[in-house]
Amino acid sequence: MKIGIHDIAAATGSLVLDLSELAEHTGTDIAKFQRGLGQFEMSISTEDDDIVTMAARATKQIIDRHGTDGIRTVMFATETGVDQSKSAGVFLHGLLGLPANTRVVELKEACYSATAALQFAAGIVARKPKEKVLVIASDTARYELGSSGEPTQGCGAIAMLISANPAVLEIEPAAGLWTSDVMDFWRPNDRSTALVDGHYSMQVYLESVEGAWHDFRAAGGAEFADIDYFCYHQPFTKMAVKAHRKLTEVAQAANPDASVASLEETMIYNRRIGNSYTASVFYALLSLLDNAEDVTGKRVALFSYGSGAVAELFTGIVPAGYQAHLRRDENRRMLDARTTIGYGEYRDRHIKFDQTGAYDTAVESDGPYRFAGVVDNKRQYVTVAS
Ligand code: CAA
Repeated sequence: MKIGIHDIAAATGSLVLDLSELAEHTGTDIAKFQRGLGQFEMSISTEDDDIVTMAARATKQIIDRHGTDGIRTVMFATETGVDQSKSAGVFLHGLLGLPANTRVVELKEACYSATAALQFAAGIVARKPKEKVLVIASDTARYELGSSGEPTQGCGAIAMLISANPAVLEIEPAAGLWTSDVMDFWRPNDRSTALVDGHYSMQVYLESVEGAWHDFRAAGGAEFADIDYFCYHQPFTKMAVKAHRKLTEVAQAANPDASVASLEETMIYNRRIGNSYTASVFYALLSLLDNAEDVTGKRVALFSYGSGAVAELFTGIVPAGYQAHLRRDENRRMLDARTTIGYGEYRDRHIKFDQTGAYDTAVESDGPYRFAGVVDNKRQYVTVAS
């Protein structure tokens, strides 16, 4: 039985900062961001939009198309959760009016956990082929103002429906795994911005590519030459280029330059969104599916990396007819429709994000769901009447 991604939908913040603004105000050569990091813009959310409302916008597209029949599990992967106890998925369950007979859980391991969710979901479907699982990845990447991580912020959500006989990607059973207990990037419980040992984190990422690849091959995974495309976790898109360059060496690729060039279509969305942590590798997949001419029958590898650190490499085959299940125009429109903000507004919003206690948020979002603020220590999510 084939199991995999039956539908995939995206959402991101409704605001955008062009990195030339950040370069100008921090006295940085814009070439460092654009050529050095491979980043051009970063998505930013309004005060009344967060990981839950972004995720709800992405998931709504799937529910509108497929309904809720057969969905008995929701896995919400994030490293920027809104509560230490309650799953962000339960807030989403409420906003979308999902049935009560659903199991809902939040998963965490930095940027990696949506990949674990995908594999767990495949296990559920293998056992009960009529069931479907919603896997959601949603995050807001934030570093301190003035820090080296600042140009690699962003936000976004990806929702996926996992089922038997999938229309978008048939996941193959082999997976390469790699875990090492390191402190390359982390966010203590009392902080809203991440801490990172930037260059060390890149080094660990590269080590994990090598480790996961060897395990993938030992587990019976395809040879390098039999994989057509590679989608990487993209904290900044140049990281994917560095990682793939490393993999071409490790796997002794016949034509490394052509292989690296084939990453191009996987980086189009993340260059404009920035880092969306758990969602990033799936944005790379979506970017490939939406922007490559025809990838029917092609084998795609996904490499997922979460600091701390856990990595996994797995592959899938794109089935015939996948194009009819995409939302190419909607996804491009979503990026083009973002409102451009200047450096001053970006800075004010960055600081405001840290507010605590009871507060209302300004009504800014024109989407179907809003985070309205905090009352009696309870987050308030509302559906906006259309
Ligand atoms: N013109 C062109 N290129 C320039 C340039 C210029 N004027 N100035 C610098 N560059 C190049 C540099 O040569 C470098 O490229 P190479 O690595 O290919 O040599 C690139 O721009 C970046 O320059 P620096 O290394 O000097 O940049 P930095 O030290 O200020 O910060 C960073 C880079 C460490 C990635 C930082 O942005 C950061 O800490 N980011 C957050 C952490 C991160 O994303 N880590 C990735 C791995 S961990 C992970 O993947 C999990 C996750 O999501 C966080």
